[in-house]
Amino acid sequence: MKDAFGSVQSVLVLGGASEIALATARRLAQRRARTIVLAGRDTTRMQSAADELRAAGVDRVEVVPFDALRTDEHQRFVDEMWARHGEFDLVLLAFGVLGDQERDERDAGAALQVLDVNFRGAVSVGIPLAQKLRAQGHGCIAVLSSVAGERARRANFVYGASKAGLDAFYQGLADSLVGSGAQVMVVRPGFVHTRMTEGRPAAPFATTPDKVADDIVRGLARNAVTVWSPGVLRPVMSAVRHLPRPVFRRMRG
Ligand SMILES: NC(=O)c1ccc[n+]([C@@H]2O[C@H](COP(=O)([O-])OP(=O)(O)OC[C@H]3O[C@@H](n4cnc5c(N)ncnc54)[C@H](OP(=O)(O)O)[C@@H]3O)[C@@H](O)[C@H]2O)c1
Repeated sequence: MKDAFGSVQSVLVLGGASEIALATARRLAQRRARTIVLAGRDTTRMQSAADELRAAGVDRVEVVPFDALRTDEHQRFVDEMWARHGEFDLVLLAFGVLGDQERDERDAGAALQVLDVNFRGAVSVGIPLAQKLRAQGHGCIAVLSSVAGERARRANFVYGASKAGLDAFYQGLADSLVGSGAQVMVVRPGFVHTRMTEGRPAAPFATTPDKVADDIVRGLARNAVTVWSPGVLRPVMSAVRHLPRPVFRRMRG
């Protein structure tokens, strides 16, 4: 349960080594989070983040293996997390891969790998997570979507398609939870300087993991349904969405 000041106390992070997720976890640690579970593949990176969170005063920090591709294990994983921790106020779903557009548009197996992580993995774990939040009657799933899913671009339409699918699913999941006490918050960052985008030219309105983390924390505080990061992307993307295709095709990137 949130504490008397409305702060999130228990957090499960899927994609626990994500730079955006860890920046958010640090913010939540400063705001008195008491339990943070980092779940992902890179245990070395997660262990060092866990040490940092403990030093920041989080009582209970755990690192556990989680693979978005192991859909056969997601129900068991979620059951185990709730059995161990009782409940979570926040699940931050941050795993994702960018893929390699040039390869992915020529190699169906590679394209499917991007969809498997970003879309199928998110749906597969999202269903048991929503069941747990529904049963406990409170809590939020904050999911990292992307502006790339708002209108698929030539430069990254495989990734864009995977995020469009994720975004649509979680918007519907949000609607399905109305009245249950549980919520979904869809987060749509633009270009963020992280490992994922390293070496790529920054897009307009590029931002940092810390700024996205601030937007996520502010979104949680106001029970937002959708968070754009930075916020200016909401009107920008609304305009971009309606550009005639010949104009849209000429846009950079
Ligand atoms: N950076 C951006 O410009 C941007 C913009 C919009 C949205 N996003 C989204 O924000 C989220 C976080 O990205 P980030 O920028 O923080 O990049 P990041 O640091 O590369 O984080 C992505 C995380 O996903 C994990 N992951 C990949 N495949 C996985 C799998 N099969 N199972 C479990 N975990 C897996 C990675 O694990 P490993 O550490 O093991 O590789 C990594 O920790 C992603 O969903 C991304 O699509 C990013």
